Amino acid sequence: MQRYHPVLVALHWLMALMILIALAAGELILENLANDDPDKILVLTGHMSAGVVIGALLVVRLVTRLRIRTPPRATTGNALLDRISVWTHWGFYVLVAGMVLSGLATALGAGLFPIVFGGAAETVPEELSGLPQRAAHGWIATVLAALIVLHISATVYHQLVLKDGLLRRMWFGPRS
Ligand code: HEM
Ligand code: HEM
Repeated sequence: MQRYHPVLVALHWLMALMILIALAAGELILENLANDDPDKILVLTGHMSAGVVIGALLVVRLVTRLRIRTPPRATTGNALLDRISVWTHWGFYVLVAGMVLSGLATALGAGLFPIVFGGAAETVPEELSGLPQRAAHGWIATVLAALIVLHISATVYHQLVLKDGLLRRMWFGPRS
């Protein structure tokens, strides 16, 4: 049984959880809170802090991924699907980086850091919603969510149809 290094396994599941929560908090809570609602600042405190931590973990993961030997790529027996899998995995790094950078650009553009972490105002400014980087943050989130659905579907396909035990590669245990 070939497995990913335990550091990559731990980072994969910690980041998966944090990214899913950040996506859900953005789509289900932030989107529905008016800018003049004081609760928005509370939600943004958690969302922006978690987002910056995700960015730091992404750098750690990328460096570790490039330095540590990983198991040979899994195969489905179909060259196109195998190629989509490679694009999806590297696509995640690009999209998550895009989320963090567009989130930071939105926060800087609307002057959110002193408001959210320094109590500089009671509510966020109305111009937040019109910023182009805010729009980009929303579009990238949609593409990322679609890729996650594809990724989870692929895992289910490997587990239930191909029955190749792929999920165990991304879990802790003996590596050879
Ligand atoms: C929550 C459901 C998830 C499941 C069930 C899952 C499952 C897996 C599995 C089984 C692998 C190993 C594939 C292999 O052995 O070749 C994997 C790899 C990977 N997953 Fe996930 N994953 C999930 C969420 C996520 C999320 C949210 C992200 C990032 C946005 C992500 C990013 C990746 C990346 C980048 C790899 C490739 C690792 C590498 O080679 O660097 N996964 N995932
Ligand atoms: C992987 C990391 C991140 C994910 C998955 C994420 C996800 C989201 C989502 C889904 C939305 C709602 C978008 C929409 O539906 O149009 C959102 C809004 C927002 N995010 Fe993030 N985000 C991340 C990182 C960050 C970071 C690092 C910051 C800032 C430091 C940030 C600041 C914001 C702000 C200011 C909003 C707008 C709130 C509003 O207009 O109501 N995000 N985020």
